[in-house]
Amino acid sequence: MPETMPNGIFKQAVEARLKTLLTEPAGASETDGSLYKAMSYSALDGGKRIRAFLVFGFYLACKADGDLSVAADYAAAIEMMHAASLIHDDLPSMDNDDYRRGKLSNHKVFGEAGAILAGDGLIIKAFETAASCSHCSPEQNLKAVRVLASKSGPDGMTGGQMLDIAGDTGKINGEMLEKLHTLKTSCLISSACMLGCIAADAAEKKIKAAEEYGRCVGLAFQIRDDILDINGDPEKMGKTLGKDKKESKATYPALFGMESSYKICKALTERAAETLGVIGDNAAEPIAALKRLALYLSERNS
Ligand code: IPE
Ligand code: IPE
Ligand code: MG
Ligand code: MG
Ligand code: MG
Repeated sequence: MPETMPNGIFKQAVEARLKTLLTEPAGASETDGSLYKAMSYSALDGGKRIRAFLVFGFYLACKADGDLSVAADYAAAIEMMHAASLIHDDLPSMDNDDYRRGKLSNHKVFGEAGAILAGDGLIIKAFETAASCSHCSPEQNLKAVRVLASKSGPDGMTGGQMLDIAGDTGKINGEMLEKLHTLKTSCLISSACMLGCIAADAAEKKIKAAEEYGRCVGLAFQIRDDILDINGDPEKMGKTLGKDKKESKATYPALFGMESSYKICKALTERAAETLGVIGDNAAEPIAALKRLALYLSERNS
């Protein structure tokens, strides 16, 4: 992450919350304990915490004097949902990846059934966490749960993953690929931005603008992921690269070429920055941080 970001503080806040939420309950049986271990293995150790950054960033952009602990449950919920999506994405029946975040993927350590259940456990824990945040009102929590559900369900991330595995690459055009990438990656990123606004009890028009910022940076983020699968450094990325071409995956570089993919990323980043005008004062630090983040996401190397 760019050094100028207050990411150290955001990272600390979400990781402390995740640690508490994923500690196995006292007196848990060995079986319960091993499920918690499998969930923690993927949710606790590693990850750039971009989605948590977005929750905190939008929270502070809407409420400059806000207390980070108010948004920490929503940030933890999003990171648990994201970790679950990665566990399932790496399964042999999905992308069949052996490495994630620089270590063995979940199913290589806990077996396929263990990994499926660790993903299930994290998804359900994510909803429980967002639904019962004690710093927000029941109305805010209901709103947060609905956003998280709609953005990660069949009309969001899960639907995108289905298109991704079912995709007949030869038949996918630009419009279909944009839809696929938006669903599988932008939707969850949008929900992170929206949850930050909801934690601040922001007006609907701000939540809408946050959704659009997330759509743009999320799409740029996935296009960058496609680019890095071709020319990235596996060490920095912490996962096996070169797989998209091998598996004939539908990607932006495959469909539009590298140069156009870079240009599309740049245009999306500019559009994301424009949407921030609705959220808050241009001179304010959280808005500037969200602008830097948009740029970083489209130019990142890890
Ligand atoms: C990886 O996301 C999955 C994609 C949507 C491309 P990240 O690159 O944000 O993964 P972590 O959390 O930093 O490991
Ligand atoms: C992952 O997309 C999207 C989700 C996990 C929802 P990819 O399959 O391209 O992500 P990597 O390359 O494995 O991180
Ligand atoms: Mg995949
Ligand atoms: Mg994958
Ligand atoms: Mg990829």
